[in-house]
Amino acid sequence: MPHQKVPVFGTRLGFYLAAIGSAFGLGNLWRFPYVVTDNGGGAFVLLYLFFVFLLGMPFLIAELTLGKISRSSLSPALAKLAGNRYQVREMREVAVIPGWVSWCLRHLSWMSLLITVVVLAYYAVISGWVLHFFMQLLVALVDPASFQPENALRVLLKNGWLQVALTSVHLLVVAVIVAKDLELGLEKWVGYCMPAFVLLLLALAVQSVQLPSSPEALRFLFYPDFSKLTLASPGQALGHVFFTLSVGFGSMVTFGSYLREKAFIPMAGFRVCTLDSMISLWAGVMIFPLVIYGSAGFNGPQLLFQTVPRLVKELPNGNWFGVGFFLCLYLASLGASIGLFETVVANMREVRRIPRARGAALAALLCFVIAVGPALSSSVLSDVKIGKRGLLEFLDGALINWFLPISALLITQVVCWLLKKDLVMAEFVDPNSPGSEKIYRHWLFILRYLAGPIVAIALLLQFIALF
Ligand code: PHE
Repeated sequence: MPHQKVPVFGTRLGFYLAAIGSAFGLGNLWRFPYVVTDNGGGAFVLLYLFFVFLLGMPFLIAELTLGKISRSSLSPALAKLAGNRYQVREMREVAVIPGWVSWCLRHLSWMSLLITVVVLAYYAVISGWVLHFFMQLLVALVDPASFQPENALRVLLKNGWLQVALTSVHLLVVAVIVAKDLELGLEKWVGYCMPAFVLLLLALAVQSVQLPSSPEALRFLFYPDFSKLTLASPGQALGHVFFTLSVGFGSMVTFGSYLREKAFIPMAGFRVCTLDSMISLWAGVMIFPLVIYGSAGFNGPQLLFQTVPRLVKELPNGNWFGVGFFLCLYLASLGASIGLFETVVANMREVRRIPRARGAALAALLCFVIAVGPALSSSVLSDVKIGKRGLLEFLDGALINWFLPISALLITQVVCWLLKKDLVMAEFVDPNSPGSEKIYRHWLFILRYLAGPIVAIALLLQFIALF
């Protein structure tokens, strides 16, 4: 059997670039604004922020810890814990685990991998939309009259095969990057665009805030009117928190496994969560004045593409802003896609010993096949509705609002009940800071006694809301 190198992030910055590059993506700019709109604004934003720090951050830390301790991705880590592999004595708290736990561990890894593959598939479709707008605006630099925001969106939505083509371009780019290995593939590509993107986002938000609709928009975004929440809101907030932080997919387990020995995980978790939610809020500040300014009918997965192109159209030199924005957005979605893809390929490599390049080709093919449905959902398959939703929206809702919270919860339960306590504690306790043990105890309490009931109640309310 060929020797397989265990990749490790060369630098601390390398890890941050990759983790933030994975967390920061379409979730912040594309999904956050439309979920906030669906759930009535400020109160939902507050709920979202509350869950980011109450559950998102502890969950993120748990996944990184599992990866770092097991030095493997989710599937092999769970296999080791289930007792199918060596190393189990060093990692596991209890000597014998009951058969049903072992069964759950085996199936959990498949569930989270399946979520990852399907999410990656429709994520690639939306990334294709970004690519379309980027190219349209690029052409508009030469021929300004060619770009009409409504038209660009209509052409895209009506032409499902164009979406299929753009999706395959995106998947190909991601597969090639990942096939070329972690150091080359990840560290270099992910995250370098971030500072530029944050600046652009700020610049666009400043423009947007000058619109006459901005007081109303900011009120919508930040004033919590709890009567606007629905029974489904807590579940949707939780699902979105896990999606935007890349938790529940096993991605952060893979990244954790690449962490260097010295890395201090709680701080990494805190930084990733803070930065990620700040970016989402900025995206909201940029988009909502436009939503209200453009008045009726802006919602759903198209929201971002209905608003931002209008803003750039109205700005002086707007097409340049537009090209910059969609280029950065594309790079952000590329970073996130690489994170998702890397998770699938790493699991294949570690469990089935499938070489990186072949794994990448297989994963790309699988995602492509799955992506055809959502890519055609606004054209050829526009009559296919599941509970009033098109295929793309249905997949997004079902996976993120239902399956992801369950998968995220189960992964953390493995960490807080099964992993050996002293191994986990060693990741938290810093001998130089006396308070660090307290962080560990709070974290453990949240995972063991709060997380389960909160997720269960949120899902139950969401279930009741279905009827
Ligand atoms: N967090 C990413 C986003 O907000 C999506 C993602 C999930 C990326 C899981 C990688 C892994 O867009």
